[in-house]
Amino acid sequence: MKRILTGDRTTGKLHLGHYVGSLQNRVRLQDEYDTFIILADVQALTTHFEKPELINKGIYDAAIDNLSVGLDPDKVTIFLQSKISAIAELTIFYSMMVSVNSLRHNPTIKTEAKQYGYGDLSYGFLGYPVSQTADITFCNADLVPVGEDQLPHIELGRKIVRRFNDLYGNGRIIINEPEALISDTPRLVGLDGNAKMGKSLNNAIYLSDSKEIVKAKVKSAVTDKNRISVKDKGNPDICTVSKYHKAFNGGDYENICEMCRNADIGCVSCKNLLSEKINLLIEPFREKRAYYEENIEKVREIIIEGSKKANIIGNKTVENVKNAMSIDI
Ligand code: TRP
Ligand code: SF4
Repeated sequence: MKRILTGDRTTGKLHLGHYVGSLQNRVRLQDEYDTFIILADVQALTTHFEKPELINKGIYDAAIDNLSVGLDPDKVTIFLQSKISAIAELTIFYSMMVSVNSLRHNPTIKTEAKQYGYGDLSYGFLGYPVSQTADITFCNADLVPVGEDQLPHIELGRKIVRRFNDLYGNGRIIINEPEALISDTPRLVGLDGNAKMGKSLNNAIYLSDSKEIVKAKVKSAVTDKNRISVKDKGNPDICTVSKYHKAFNGGDYENICEMCRNADIGCVSCKNLLSEKINLLIEPFREKRAYYEENIEKVREIIIEGSKKANIIGNKTVENVKNAMSIDI
């Protein structure tokens, strides 16, 4: 079986953007691939090191979000990044093989640097694509299902792996070169029309939102602002709600756009249709979530067991790596 490695920073609840970008693919592929889900608590520190109180809750949030959408703990390995010593070790080795400039040019780092300022950007933050490469390669993953924003990291990771194999492989592959799997659903925009759905932007629908909250949030979504009365013809191309219909109500998407253009549907009904669809999707997640929230000790066990398994695999990889690098006696 080929292997998947993917996961989430443990900085809070996951939202529908995460679902269409990555979670959906994880669930779909868990039977075909040996799937590893990383709860990236060390990576969470890149932005949250001053808020340790948020990290522990974030670990459980991310674990439960993953379990609630249908990842089966009997099939997949869910583990905690900070428990895997191989990840820390590989991060150090890989960091020798990557230039500061290539890290500075990483678009995600650039964007984040803009948001938080270059002056305050930490060594750890700058290097997070390096530690992410360690996350992916400690278990020699083949495939990495992620949102498109993660692509530059994976590309950088592939470069590091090639460099490593060239330098130390002696014609052999020591570390597997991973490949990204990008969702074919386009990135989900925020409810406010912002290109990104995100917690800090306050424009997200969470997998843990109740039926009523989903309804209220959809109601608040930005539509075609020129459409003032139901009689006005609308333009779905500039409407947030239509983009959500495309993602969650695919079969009816064309039809809804046409009705909008002809003023055959009002925004209120259009939004009601959408929240029904989203709630239909999330409803089974809510049941699973309730189960895990009531059995939090079980969630803990899943993470501990997963981390044990990941460590066995990681230790073997580090042994091979050290061997190849001749830093063993
Ligand atoms: N950076 C990813 C995100 O923000 C989370 C992550 C950490 C990850 N390590 C990973 C994703 C390894 C894929 C593979 O969503
Ligand atoms: Fe948007 Fe629907 Fe209103 Fe058209 S009818 S503007 S798609 S909410």
